Amino acid sequence: MKKNRKGIILAGGTGSRLYPATLSISKQLLPIYDKPMIFYPLSVLMSAKIKEIAVIIREEDYKNFYDLLGDGSQFGISISYIFQPSPDGLAQAYILAEEFLNGHPSAMILGDNFFYGYYLREILEKASSREIATIFGYRVSDPSSYGVADFDSNGNVLSIEEKPTQPASNYAVTGLYFLDSSAPSKAKTIEPSKRGELEITSLLELYMHNNQLNLEKLGRGFAWLDTGTHENLLESANFIRSLQLRQGTQIGCLEEVALQNNWISKDQIKDQAKKFPKTLYGEYLQTFLD
Ligand code: DAU
Repeated sequence: MKKNRKGIILAGGTGSRLYPATLSISKQLLPIYDKPMIFYPLSVLMSAKIKEIAVIIREEDYKNFYDLLGDGSQFGISISYIFQPSPDGLAQAYILAEEFLNGHPSAMILGDNFFYGYYLREILEKASSREIATIFGYRVSDPSSYGVADFDSNGNVLSIEEKPTQPASNYAVTGLYFLDSSAPSKAKTIEPSKRGELEITSLLELYMHNNQLNLEKLGRGFAWLDTGTHENLLESANFIRSLQLRQGTQIGCLEEVALQNNWISKDQIKDQAKKFPKTLYGEYLQTFLD
């Protein structure tokens, strides 16, 4: 029987680019407009119908994360926590999560990545149903700041490089990776890069060499924002604020995704709404009960 896909949110790291704001709190718990940052990537995994999720964090942040997300049952999911002793690279997540994954395929999202767009749910479900690995490319004006991929018209990845000085394309590899069950064993074979990290691009290269790496383009109708700097943080907050106020909807509302997936009942929504009186979030939850 095909094993279900499990999720990983990588939410460790020092957040040093956001000092002093992150001296005493994890970056992924900072608000982006009206919600903690981690709500947005968590809502993406939930939209992909992933119910078992491990959040990789620093041990010192555990209490804060647990206070916020608990065991996930309020969202109809199961959340476990894995500690990363030091930020030794994105690919290390697969080694740390090996036991949690237990031979299942996975979707990993970076805790500071924000995705928004029409048909996102369909695109995620398509990626989730594929046997081979899927990454998502997004056209940016400054590709050198990211992992960059070159690919053919079928989405087959031809090259992938971390923060290249001479990028092979304008397509950044976003922080969302759908990999098969071999990811932990593959991750164990890669060597640290010059900056001393197990790079996600090195892991993806292994898939590419086996002709097992597909890139799905996120077109103009999508917003992909990396919220790792003060500028990006403010930019994302403004984006979310504009859309939410204009449309009267919420982006990254976990209860809404859970309800759409039939993972929680209206009674559970009611309980959640009670926790947030006098907020637009609470009012929004209330609309599902009316
Ligand atoms: O945002 C997309 C980019 O993310 C990709 O295009 C790159 O290929 C990928 O390497 C990554 O680049 P960044 O320079 O943005 O990675 P950063 O070191 O900022 O880490 C991204 C997130 O992952 C951040 O929220 C902290 C967390 N992290 C990072 C490392 C290295 C961890 O939790 N543990 C780690 O060991």
